[in-house]
Amino acid sequence: MKDKVLFEIKEEHLETGLRGFPVGYCPTSFVDPQKGLFYRGMPIKEMEGFTPEKVIALLLTTLFQSKDEIEAFMQEVESHFACHPDVMKHISCLPRKGHPMKLMSAAVLILGMIEGKGNYLEDLKILIGKLPHLTALVINHHAGWGKTPMPKPSFGYMESFADMVNIPNTDKKKLHEVLDLFEILHMDHGGGNLSTFVGKAVASSLEDLYGSISSALSALAGPLHGKANQDGLGFVKRVLEAVGQKGTLEDVRTFIEGCVEEKKIIYGFGHAVLRVEDPRATIMYDYSTKYFGDHSLVKTALLIRKAGSEVMSRYPKFQDPFPNIDAISGTMLTAAGFGYPEYYTLLFGLSRSVGIGIQICYERLRARHGKGTPIVRPKYFYRDEF
Ligand code: MLT
Repeated sequence: MKDKVLFEIKEEHLETGLRGFPVGYCPTSFVDPQKGLFYRGMPIKEMEGFTPEKVIALLLTTLFQSKDEIEAFMQEVESHFACHPDVMKHISCLPRKGHPMKLMSAAVLILGMIEGKGNYLEDLKILIGKLPHLTALVINHHAGWGKTPMPKPSFGYMESFADMVNIPNTDKKKLHEVLDLFEILHMDHGGGNLSTFVGKAVASSLEDLYGSISSALSALAGPLHGKANQDGLGFVKRVLEAVGQKGTLEDVRTFIEGCVEEKKIIYGFGHAVLRVEDPRATIMYDYSTKYFGDHSLVKTALLIRKAGSEVMSRYPKFQDPFPNIDAISGTMLTAAGFGYPEYYTLLFGLSRSVGIGIQICYERLRARHGKGTPIVRPKYFYRDEF
């Protein structure tokens, strides 16, 4: 079936962000427009309660066939929890003025310069192992939250991160639980989301894992991609401010109708692929209702969930009038005591870098019977008028 036509390119497809263009295979995960996200064929809904380590091991079945190989890989990941003191020193010198995502991209490059091995699989172990420490170092430095504790070898992956990030006055146990959930739900999302595509495209030049992941994080930093979780919380806060603590569904509906009329963005709604409520959002809505149901932002987010879909469904211009994960993730984090939205995209990056790293290793080392995919080189037509 090598000559089967998969997609017909017409002129109208140009300058549409490659939307829907098939470009390759993604063995780690896929997104079904109706059923949502699957990791290695398993629906995300079945992964509630999994530890991040278990999900990483599941995604690693893309690269290794035997359980022993995966166990050995994970043991090495666990031996790589702490960043080298020179990495810590350089992160502590990064300018604190910019958005912390810029610091995170820079920190990954620093890690590569100091600890990189120039071997995709070895670097994947180092990167996955050290990401929680690296992210905590960036956040504590940027926020001015003092010295970052060293990772504790007996702690789990996100337990360690929750312990190292010095958020003032937080119940670390609850935070750990919420971060586990956040981490497993963001780890991978098919092959074509921008950060993943960028990471793989950069690696196609044989750039190392750190340069590729750093570029992927820059792609994730934009408001149309990963920064949407920060903006999603901002939207919930704006609605709460407008309708007040006693705001009703009707009040929220009116607010959202106003946004549609004034062509303002309704953050957290719509998705490039999904045509139903994002199952990752459903899991977070359920969790937030169960544990933080009295929190005013959670109540507002639940009203937005209902009113948003009702209002947007009336307008054909919204192809997907349903909430995605960014509609609730920031609210859930705030209710759990992590009320610092400028760091939300870093949490996304901490998690998504795992999936991107594994996809990069697949494309470099396993694709095309081990030959790897060639350098990405699409075609542009010359046109002098615009
Ligand atoms: C997501 O997690 O929803 C994405 O990275 C966005 C996408 O799939 O394009």
